[in-house]
Amino acid sequence: MTGTTSVNDENQYARCIQSSKRVCWDIEADVIRGRRFCTTEKFLPDGLSLANGFASLSREERRFVSQVQGRTYANVFGLVERFINAKVLELCRDYALGNQLALEALMRFSDEELKHQALFRRIETMLAEAMPRGYRFDIDPDEVARAVLGKSTWAVLALTLDIELFTQRHYRESIDPDSELSELFKDVFLHHWKEEAQHAALDELELVRHDGTLAAGDRERGVDDFIELVRAVDGILQAQATADAAYFVVSCGRPIEIDEARRIEAGFLAAYRWQYIHSGAEHPRFVKVLSGLTTPSQRQRISGALAILH
Ligand SMILES: [Fe+2]
Ligand SMILES: [Fe+2]
Repeated sequence: MTGTTSVNDENQYARCIQSSKRVCWDIEADVIRGRRFCTTEKFLPDGLSLANGFASLSREERRFVSQVQGRTYANVFGLVERFINAKVLELCRDYALGNQLALEALMRFSDEELKHQALFRRIETMLAEAMPRGYRFDIDPDEVARAVLGKSTWAVLALTLDIELFTQRHYRESIDPDSELSELFKDVFLHHWKEEAQHAALDELELVRHDGTLAAGDRERGVDDFIELVRAVDGILQAQATADAAYFVVSCGRPIEIDEARRIEAGFLAAYRWQYIHSGAEHPRFVKVLSGLTTPSQRQRISGALAILH
């Protein structure tokens, strides 16, 4: 994947390094600052939890939905950052003896993702102290990373760009404007967002550069793999929606009949599909980048695969 880089690319790598140095933060000193989570507060904003769709639930119960989903939100980032970092380390190896600006930008990217995973492990421990017992997130990040990294680099970079773009969209459109959120929860994702802006720029640079090295048949395989990865993400979301709805039902403090439990589970799955699939796939930048790399029939296959996940 090494080769010549344009002056424009060089400037982008340099800008990413500058931003990385400028926004760098520390987990305890800048984010946690001795605070704890309080279950009288909302964690995930309505724009992501789709709390208003849980028609049978009271205001307090919807707040509990936001807390369960907020806990899963932090865990999902910890999960995906394992494979993102592993792919970034592969890219670093390609640049080790070549473009040192690209290498530095990607090494910082990797370092930041290691810190983010530590942050999300810390958040999980803190949330476990604050919330009722019984929450489960049984997905092994290494196992998921092994499966993802078995797919073509084109597909992994496309999925990574998708994730890092929706991270920013979530913060700007939903987390930042919600004035009822826990300040600590908001701060976690403010700091995360600050470092993710460079990541999305680097994902795009690397995806476009990698794409330029491919023959048409390789790209076709990339599209197939991307669709398979999105389906695999959906499988994880279905399992977690089931687990989170079951945790909600046993912990919410009142008996819930089977029909209502089913509707609650469907509400969790709709929210997770919005958060982790559709909000990224519809992101204007993602659509633009993909349009520049794929044929109309490849894009149709991707949107056809996404359309059934509603
Ligand atoms: Fe991150
Ligand atoms: Fe990232």
